[in-house]
Amino acid sequence: MGEKDLTRRQFIAAASAGSLAASSSRTVHTYGNITGDDSNLAILGGTPIRRNKGWPEWPYCDDDVVESIVATTKSRIWCRIQSASGTVPTWEEKFANLMDAKYCVATGSGTQALHTSVEALGIGPGDEVITSPYTDPGTISSIISARALAVLADLDRESYQLDPEDVERRITENTKAIMPVHMMGQPADMDSIMRIAKKHNLKVIEDAAQAHLSVYKGKKLGTIGDLGCFSFQSSKTIACGEGGAIIGNDEQLMDQCYTVHNHGTSRRGVTEVIGPKYRMNEFEAAVLLGQLAGVEQRFLRRNENAAYLTSRLKGFPGVRPQKLYEGTESGSFYLYGMTYKKEHFNNADRDTFLKAVAAEGVNLGGYVKTGLHTQPWVDHILDSEVYKKMYSAKRLEQYRDERSCPVCDQVCQEMAMVWASGPLLGTREDMDDIADAILKVYENRDQLSRI
Ligand SMILES: Cc1ncc(COP(=O)(O)O)c(C=O)c1O
Repeated sequence: MGEKDLTRRQFIAAASAGSLAASSSRTVHTYGNITGDDSNLAILGGTPIRRNKGWPEWPYCDDDVVESIVATTKSRIWCRIQSASGTVPTWEEKFANLMDAKYCVATGSGTQALHTSVEALGIGPGDEVITSPYTDPGTISSIISARALAVLADLDRESYQLDPEDVERRITENTKAIMPVHMMGQPADMDSIMRIAKKHNLKVIEDAAQAHLSVYKGKKLGTIGDLGCFSFQSSKTIACGEGGAIIGNDEQLMDQCYTVHNHGTSRRGVTEVIGPKYRMNEFEAAVLLGQLAGVEQRFLRRNENAAYLTSRLKGFPGVRPQKLYEGTESGSFYLYGMTYKKEHFNNADRDTFLKAVAAEGVNLGGYVKTGLHTQPWVDHILDSEVYKKMYSAKRLEQYRDERSCPVCDQVCQEMAMVWASGPLLGTREDMDDIADAILKVYENRDQLSRI
């Protein structure tokens, strides 16, 4: 069908001739029945595509979760060091099994998991770690909290993941590690990243904070690099409010992670190294254990819904779903990302499009407003006496000059995404509403200039 503009009906007709036959009748008839009028955007007084319907609530909670918390409260084991069989050690074992890893250390957040990993690998002042500017601030916080230099490489515009070529360009003699972020829960280009890491003798810390259970070329994300880090913050697909975990297969390195996260105190009770106190508490692990039974089922549902939504948008030129690399077997679909292509919407800007779709009853978001390379922490570290002591003036000047990431800037402006943890657990009809809202705005794109 190419990039040519087409009406929503033409698109549906074309799609129904192919793989979308099963969904197309519902789309046409239900949409027609609900509105009786598809020629006015809801934001301009037309009838919305979706009315009086909620999305599956998030974070996930059921009686098992509540009972698990109550049991922990009554047990009076509230701290992991009180018992080797408390909820935290039990969760560590179960999460390691779930992720096909040998070992797990649970932490109080994903940021803490990442920072612990950086410290455990011996990375600190004078060292550099390459990561993405398109991520949560926790990613870079983990590097600069160790007083290393967080070097930001640009993105691949279609996958929103680190561009391996730019990663390689930014390697210096002080680079010690790459921290790929599996953006939206789908795999980064791990073959290329591992190849570059091997070539330059670098460690790889996977920021899999969003990527629980995702599989790339037969391996769970988080088990490909030296260490993999996860977040269980409320919005994540496995959640306990605030929480995190490190997984890995190297016993010695994972023991070091335990020691670092336990204020430098080893499992033998000896205080050996510098370390913060980042232990997960028993209540957080109780919430995680309470939801474990349905985790894989919800993961499969999000994958099925994501595939269906992508099939509904196949061939449609106005939005392009996140590119998945060859070898992506599944994704957590923490977020379902799409690139908004304004040239197909009469050049209406992204925020106008989002407002129009929201009025149709489907709230999409823009996600990261501006990349981390544009935020004040960069000047903060460049001007700080601490960083001036640790890095040469020449290196800091070069860092300032080379901070731009133009593809990331573009991705921030073009992103339109579904908050997936909850909505992507919905029904087929919910997915059809998302696609129909986008397609209705497209069909009536001439009205966007009136908003
Ligand atoms: C990609 C990424 N990295 C790191 C983090 C930090 O995790 P936490 O919020 O649990 O500290 C997050 C959380 O949003 C994230 O999405």
